[in-house]
Amino acid sequence: MPINAPPPSVRVVTLRIDGLDLSAREDETIIEVCRENKIPIPSLCWMDGLSVVGACRLCMVEVTGQNRLLAACATRVAEGMEVTTDSEKLRRYRRTLVELLFAERNHVCSVCVSNGHCELQWLAEACGVDHVRMPYRNAGYGVDSSHEMFRVDHNRCVLCTRCVRVCDEIEGAHTWDLMGRGSDCQVITDLARPWGESDTCTSCGKCVQVCPTGALVKQGTSVGEMVKDQHFLPILARRRSAR
Ligand code: FES
Repeated sequence: MPINAPPPSVRVVTLRIDGLDLSAREDETIIEVCRENKIPIPSLCWMDGLSVVGACRLCMVEVTGQNRLLAACATRVAEGMEVTTDSEKLRRYRRTLVELLFAERNHVCSVCVSNGHCELQWLAEACGVDHVRMPYRNAGYGVDSSHEMFRVDHNRCVLCTRCVRVCDEIEGAHTWDLMGRGSDCQVITDLARPWGESDTCTSCGKCVQVCPTGALVKQGTSVGEMVKDQHFLPILARRRSAR
């Protein structure tokens, strides 16, 4: 059997994405097939190597025969499926979602350590967001600088939960979790104790590296200096699942 061939129990299906005829393993999701074939789909919560939560809804696509949009990260491919990843409707939808994220918290890029290296900023650019059409909430969220190496600024958090998942699924510490609902929702460490007082945090920094914005950053970084390195994640995830 060729080295990259799927195991015999996994079928290969054929599907069409944006007019391209493609084949994929039946256990793959639409976003995985798109990434393999360099078809761009915006995403914020999805990350190769972490479980899927389908929280941000930026990866919504149209599937022929479905009367609603489907999350590409949470939808498996199927034989004969026809997917559209780019349409006027999807562009409007994604742009509104990105605007809502900017309006909800205080993403002031000009004074952010992640300025220029921020996935939310990149998404705004890709979706053509040059202004926000809804009123800003201007609610003040907390900043926790109690950890000697890292800082969390809840004003810049998009609640993607990558930090929660990487800490639980890859590091095995489960320091992070979510508390509250709606606009009061926020990520917390150790039952909402200050991060610096956490008994479970190993200071590995994985949460900081996977955070898409300037919400989780290293202490001592200045505007535009915080560059994240996420290459470790798929490698670690595969090594863990191979055990
Ligand atoms: Fe699919 Fe966030 S990437 S819902």
